Amino acid sequence: MPEPTFHVSDDPAGAVAALLVAAVRRRESIVLAGGSTPAAAYQRASFTEPNWGRASVWFGDERCVPPDDERSNYGLARRTLFDRLARLPEVHRIRGELPPAEAADAYEAELGQTALDLVLLGLGPDCHVASLFPGTPQLAVLDRRVTSGPPGLDPRVDRITLTLPALTAAGSIVVLVTGASKAAAVERAFRAEPGEDAPASLLRAGPAPVALYLDPAAAG
Ligand code: 6PG
Repeated sequence: MPEPTFHVSDDPAGAVAALLVAAVRRRESIVLAGGSTPAAAYQRASFTEPNWGRASVWFGDERCVPPDDERSNYGLARRTLFDRLARLPEVHRIRGELPPAEAADAYEAELGQTALDLVLLGLGPDCHVASLFPGTPQLAVLDRRVTSGPPGLDPRVDRITLTLPALTAAGSIVVLVTGASKAAAVERAFRAEPGEDAPASLLRAGPAPVALYLDPAAAG
């Protein structure tokens, strides 16, 4: 598999926004990341391209909370992206308000065999991606595209997440990371040997090319 590519700039959010807009214009299936880092990229993308009407949007993971909960990854996308668009994409929300196993089964059924073109991920300080946390059984789920499990970090709510096979089969993976607090995780996940202690490092085992978009602080 190709080694990850590193794109270091003072404006990684702008670079990722441009990738999102290009994917929208190609009418692709796009997987959004949660957390806080992608907010700036979503805002910039909505400004550059307000018409997402021909794209489909999925989520890499979700916290098991209702969509109007401040911890919801769907809620982040709604505030920073969907509410700013002139035309909405087809949005496939993970139903975090359901019991975890039920939500995972529903999302698995909805996802089916859909080809995911662009997967956007953030990176946790513990090298988690989506809600795949270090040393957890979810890393060994290879016969499903969606699974559920307990949190590995705050917020301490159960999670629904795409599995490694689902992520690594995508057309491409973009990881957006900013800040000095993530520099060690970038080094461990993308420059050292892959291992289950660093789930992000396992992205390199699949066919999807992995591109990192970093500011200088995260690039170390
Ligand atoms: C989540 C995210 C998670 C996130 C990382 C980084 O549900 O929390 O999907 O994988 O991308 O934890 O989060 P920050 O961008 O907030 O640092």
